[in-house]
Amino acid sequence: MSVLEEVVAPVSADAETCSLDNYLVLPDHTNDERIAAARRALGTSTILLGHHYQRDEVIRFADFTGDSYKLSKAAAETDAQYIVFCGVHFMAESADVLAHHGQQVILPDLNAGCSMADMAEIGQVEECWEILHRAGAREGEIVPITYMNSSAAIKAFCGERGGLVCTSSNARKAFEWAFARGEKILFLPDQHLGRNTGHAMGIPLNEMVIYDPWQIGGGITPERLRTARVILWKGHCSVHQRFLPEHVDKVRAKYPGIQVIVHPECRLEVCEKADALGSTERLIKIVQDAPAGTSFAIGTEIHLVNRLAKQFAPLGKRIVTLDDTGCLCTTMYRISPGHLAWALENLVEGSVVNRIQVRDDVKYWARVALDRMLEVRA
Ligand code: 13P
Ligand code: SF4
Repeated sequence: MSVLEEVVAPVSADAETCSLDNYLVLPDHTNDERIAAARRALGTSTILLGHHYQRDEVIRFADFTGDSYKLSKAAAETDAQYIVFCGVHFMAESADVLAHHGQQVILPDLNAGCSMADMAEIGQVEECWEILHRAGAREGEIVPITYMNSSAAIKAFCGERGGLVCTSSNARKAFEWAFARGEKILFLPDQHLGRNTGHAMGIPLNEMVIYDPWQIGGGITPERLRTARVILWKGHCSVHQRFLPEHVDKVRAKYPGIQVIVHPECRLEVCEKADALGSTERLIKIVQDAPAGTSFAIGTEIHLVNRLAKQFAPLGKRIVTLDDTGCLCTTMYRISPGHLAWALENLVEGSVVNRIQVRDDVKYWARVALDRMLEVRA
């Protein structure tokens, strides 16, 4: 018996062996064989989806990688009985909403949340809606849009009120969709994506206001709420908000001719200085399509930046992070090879762990909002 087998028995052992604690004491690389064996044993019954911010040790096992738009499309289209989502909670919830009857979604670590998604709670959003209507908004005048990075309850809230979900790859089209149906947008929960999108469409900054859920009345006068065209929820991504305009200046001075490309969750001041913006999938495509010899500074999560740097160095493309201090999404990082091996080996044993299940009443309207998102396209 190998050392590994002494600590945790191999695939197809009894339920006792499938306790998570047994897996987390093992060095990451020792799980590779077990993950691969479990994948073989599960065959086409299981699909593994991996977001671009996942660590190399995890994403290498994904059947399908992508940004949140692409992954939700994959979840809606797969026939696999089990969808193992290597990403964060809101992504797994969306997959459950989009899945067919009988499919089950698994998030290997339930602690893999998103601090931005946590910045909007359904009770606060309902209160905001009431405040907007007390300030004089007419029925149908405001179309709510929620970024994918939000709870299923907020997606359902938007679906039920004539709104939709968007991702960073189709935010502009979602805005156009909304303005074709109403006069104003309530954008949840990322102020930066909302502001960047509105700004790119030519909406003046003074027509976009911030609603702060922690302030009485959103911290804004009814008059300002009445005149605004876009009401931005005061939420942000703590990873992307760390990039500053001075980082762009610094990297340009250090590497003359470098292309700066950033995720639209960055501040407007950073996006304005960048050469291009895009979802994770688009950032990758920009790098792929560039000729050899191009240098990029990328403003997004460090695992993706490091992976691209390694992958494209042999092709003569230099890639650096926009900010040297390294921007790690700690919640994406929670999905470890140990968690993945544990979830898969349990599946082999016929036991579903960490299932993500959205309540049926929430599911209905969340599905409406997500279907609209998929119709709007990236
Ligand atoms: P993408 O949809 O661009 O992959 O972004 C998801 C995300 O959470 C970025 O922080
Ligand atoms: Fe959430 Fe930011 Fe992590 Fe994306 S990078 S999952 S927005 S905390």
